[in-house]
Amino acid sequence: MEKRDLIYEGKAKRLFSTDDANLVIAEFKDDLTAFNGAKKDNESGKGALNNKISTELFKMLAKNGVESHFVEMLDDTHMLCKKVDIILIEVIVRNIATGSLSKNLGIPDGKVLPFTLVEFDYKNDALGDPKLNDQHCLILELVKNEAELDQLRAMAREVNSILRPYFHDKGLNLVDFKLEFGRDKDGKIILADEISPDNCRFWDLETGEKMDKDRFRQGLGGLKVAYEEVLNRILG
Ligand code: C5P
Repeated sequence: MEKRDLIYEGKAKRLFSTDDANLVIAEFKDDLTAFNGAKKDNESGKGALNNKISTELFKMLAKNGVESHFVEMLDDTHMLCKKVDIILIEVIVRNIATGSLSKNLGIPDGKVLPFTLVEFDYKNDALGDPKLNDQHCLILELVKNEAELDQLRAMAREVNSILRPYFHDKGLNLVDFKLEFGRDKDGKIILADEISPDNCRFWDLETGEKMDKDRFRQGLGGLKVAYEEVLNRILG
């Protein structure tokens, strides 16, 4: 598969066209950003870890019936993906309160939520990814109708119902995560982006240690060791 033109550069990945109009190559970068790009760093090897972790998780989800844009891992930092039109909604799934939920609503950090919360954020850096309700999504024409919003929520809950016990078996508490979805060439909504410690929060079940990007956000250090540990536990 030939890597051609750069078609998009995000904070953590670059996307390249290929010789097949229906396929793109995602390159996982070592760049780290937080607080909508206000805090920046670079951690050598981080991109490769996220590529490997996402590959394993997309494969595992596929075995459990969840379709994604993942096609195959090409090398340490490159993933071959189906080309999709990204839906500009970040779907946030929360099992335990922390982060912006605790900050915005005063729910104690670490409180187990009575049910899994699914929220929508606008994928829009210039606006700082604000929260959206269903009506906002429709007014902004981010989806075609209300049924598609229900579909996004249902798919996100399905992913959570697979990932949460999977990580529990590996000694990790899946606290919350962000998913992105896109439309494939037939207009079907499928899972896209990545699933990695950059966009999930994992707490060690025994020690409560943070094993995700909060190590960078909160200046705790040891980010790469934590991501390596997540990969090792996934690989068993
Ligand atoms: O910051 P907040 O508490 O809203 O984050 C919830 C979850 O969504 C976290 O796992 C975080 O890593 C993820 N997230 C993300 N990208 C964003 C916002 C949140 O991956 N732009």
